[in-house]
Amino acid sequence: MKPKDIFNDVEITSSTVDGLGIARIDNWVVFIPKALTGDVADIIITSKKRNHVFGKITELKKESGQRVIPFCEHFGLCGGCSLQHINYAEQLRIKQQFVEDTLKRIGKVEAEKIFPIIPCDETTRYRNRLDFAFANRRWLTNDELNTEIKATGSFAGFHMPGRYDKIIDINICHLQPEPTNAIRHFAKNFAAEREWSFYDPVKYEGFIRDMIIRNTTTGEWMVVVIFGSRDDEKISAVLGALSEKFPQVTSLHYVINTKRNPTIYDLDVIHFNGKETLTEKIGEVSFKISPKSFFQTNTKQAEKLFKAALDFASLTGNEVVYDLYTGTGTIANFIAHRAKKVTGIDYIADAIENAKENSRLNGINNTDFFSGDIKETLSDNFIEAHGKPDVIITDPPRAGMHPDVAKKISESGAERIVYVSCNPATQARDIALMAERYRVTKMQPVDMFPNTSHVENVALLEKKVQGVVI
Ligand SMILES: C[S@@+](CC[C@H](N)C(=O)[O-])C[C@H]1O[C@@H](n2cnc3c(N)ncnc32)[C@H](O)[C@@H]1O
Repeated sequence: MKPKDIFNDVEITSSTVDGLGIARIDNWVVFIPKALTGDVADIIITSKKRNHVFGKITELKKESGQRVIPFCEHFGLCGGCSLQHINYAEQLRIKQQFVEDTLKRIGKVEAEKIFPIIPCDETTRYRNRLDFAFANRRWLTNDELNTEIKATGSFAGFHMPGRYDKIIDINICHLQPEPTNAIRHFAKNFAAEREWSFYDPVKYEGFIRDMIIRNTTTGEWMVVVIFGSRDDEKISAVLGALSEKFPQVTSLHYVINTKRNPTIYDLDVIHFNGKETLTEKIGEVSFKISPKSFFQTNTKQAEKLFKAALDFASLTGNEVVYDLYTGTGTIANFIAHRAKKVTGIDYIADAIENAKENSRLNGINNTDFFSGDIKETLSDNFIEAHGKPDVIITDPPRAGMHPDVAKKISESGAERIVYVSCNPATQARDIALMAERYRVTKMQPVDMFPNTSHVENVALLEKKVQGVVI
């Protein structure tokens, strides 16, 4: 098996959660982009690794019954919605299988009950936040190479996956409701017509640089425009025009970022007009969202996720609950009415301030929030001071928990641990570290991001007593 080898009538027998079809040829596993279970295709081998190869479809001979026409003109180039050639029911099946296989393979988890994945009602326009880049260089597709189309100019869109130096010029993105595309096009055209410089990601210079657009289910919109240099007159001109054109933008801000890296978390956000924050509702709880705050990006599905976590926590009102990796205290505030006390920890001090403010905003007075690295903060002294937890909810980032944190949790004596994860592989690894004292009794996968490879999984771990579950 080597690159450029050609195979005819290859049957695709399974699909990965990343949208690759899998075929087996001569004891080799072949991964094929844009192929899916049930396809039959002629393929060419494109690259070879130690244990597997990659191939490309040259001719699709028979289409899988799960195939649908991708809705986005940028499919295949933009890394965003890599499963959009697969119908939604099949996407859900692939995600469910992925969660079950990953937990079994890595964590040796045999949950007593695995619920069917919770689907998303809306499979497009479900995101409440998009981060766009403006740039003077764009990626050219193979079809565009050797044509009149230029790679330099004034563009706005997303970075090419794995490429910091070029962006894909996005016409329509289907991930957020309108006017997200209209706002981006307006800012791009306003700057381009005036021949303002677009950011050069290779030289790290240029005026108009990035844009964050957020919205809420309550109908508010926030726009943050990031400029690569300061020019007050131009900033007022573009933001003033944007504000006039889009009265639905309730909160308008800007940032001057002259650093090489695009993050704004260490920079001042300057309020231009409107309200300073957005207010979102999940269930009965309101959340204030400031420009730098993390907030779950699919609000309606977040509510389903939090309900699943609350259900697994089986709270009666008498429990001391720890909400680890609490962020802006979203889960803590959502569940507070069902607990005696909720203690949240996160290492982002601003997020902790937001969490406290969100409790105040909702008249919740049985929460406590602390900023610090969980590995250091969750000490014996901390547990003594804040009470032994009856239930621990943990929602770490993709990298999962530090082994010391998994150890500490498993020694905490909590009756139940509800592990919310956006990465089943690290969740499985962490669960394996707690297997001596806890066993997984229930799992609930949730599809937060249709058409993408992402899947969330909530696992309930119950304390074992001398090797049995109580
Ligand atoms: C997946 S988010 C969870 C947010 C929150 N549960 C929610 O639903 O809005 C993970 C959070 O973990 C925090 N975090 C990551 N590593 C941490 C650490 N070592 N110590 C404390 N917090 C950490 C991040 O700041 C982030 O807020």
